[in-house]
Amino acid sequence: MRFHKSVLLQPACHFLAVKSGGHYVDCTLGGGGHAAEILRQGGKVLGLDQDPDAISACLALPKPLGEGGPDLILVQSNFIHLAEVVSAHHWQPVLGVLLDLGVSEHQINTPGRGFSFQESGLLDMRMDPNLPNTAATLVNQLSVNQLTSLLRDFGEIPVAKLLAVKIIAARPLTTTDQLAAITGKWSRQAFQALRIAVNDELGALKEILSQAQQILAPGGRLVVISFHSLEDRIVKHTLKNMPSLTPKPVIGEKGAKLRAYVKTINHY
Ligand SMILES: C[S@@+](CC[C@H](N)C(=O)[O-])C[C@H]1O[C@@H](n2cnc3c(N)ncnc32)[C@H](O)[C@@H]1O
Repeated sequence: MRFHKSVLLQPACHFLAVKSGGHYVDCTLGGGGHAAEILRQGGKVLGLDQDPDAISACLALPKPLGEGGPDLILVQSNFIHLAEVVSAHHWQPVLGVLLDLGVSEHQINTPGRGFSFQESGLLDMRMDPNLPNTAATLVNQLSVNQLTSLLRDFGEIPVAKLLAVKIIAARPLTTTDQLAAITGKWSRQAFQALRIAVNDELGALKEILSQAQQILAPGGRLVVISFHSLEDRIVKHTLKNMPSLTPKPVIGEKGAKLRAYVKTINHY
């Protein structure tokens, strides 16, 4: 089974403007599709992913020892530690940062990880298995108001309160099937909402966007691929002072939207 089919591979590398020997950071390695293309175009990649399965998958990527050190360094880490990881690996000057947000196909298609409402599995949904709270912890412990906010704010579900009440009446819930039976036609949104909460995806996005602007070299590029309006809104808002290379986002498969930015010399 393939690990992940990369979206917007060529546009991402085009906007990163990959330079031979230049340092890039792929903050969301997944199956390594984007990292492999940056390497193929001559760039050097510091790659992060919080999921140990992604790091294992990327061990198969070619790791030539280029001039002045290795061409590929893999680090299992949440990207909120970007600045620290860049500094620890002496990766500056950084010419480009790539974020391909959300989940990999591997995560969705591994039933035991609990990301999919279409597969039977435990309600887990942690990208990093060391995170403290699983989806089961949230559905079984949050109050009705907390669950309502979670489903409304992260899933944009108009009947959030009704679903929250039903979930609470059916506790304890342990499996994806149990939850999907309650959420019915709102399952996709409800599972997305829980996944966002379990992994603090929007908090991490705000943090990485701020750190990426700081660690980029003048003239460096920031490319973000997002998959839903909650992420896209944060990207547009947080980066509103950064010159954009994509007045309109580039649209790809699976509803992907790519926005690219450049850090100008006088940016700060
Ligand atoms: C859409 S996939 C990336 C696919 C990759 N670009 C490729 O071509 O194969 C997103 C990846 O980002 C990782 N991820 C999501 N949020 C993260 C975070 N806060 N820190 C580190 N990795 C994260 C996920 O574990 C997942 O492997």
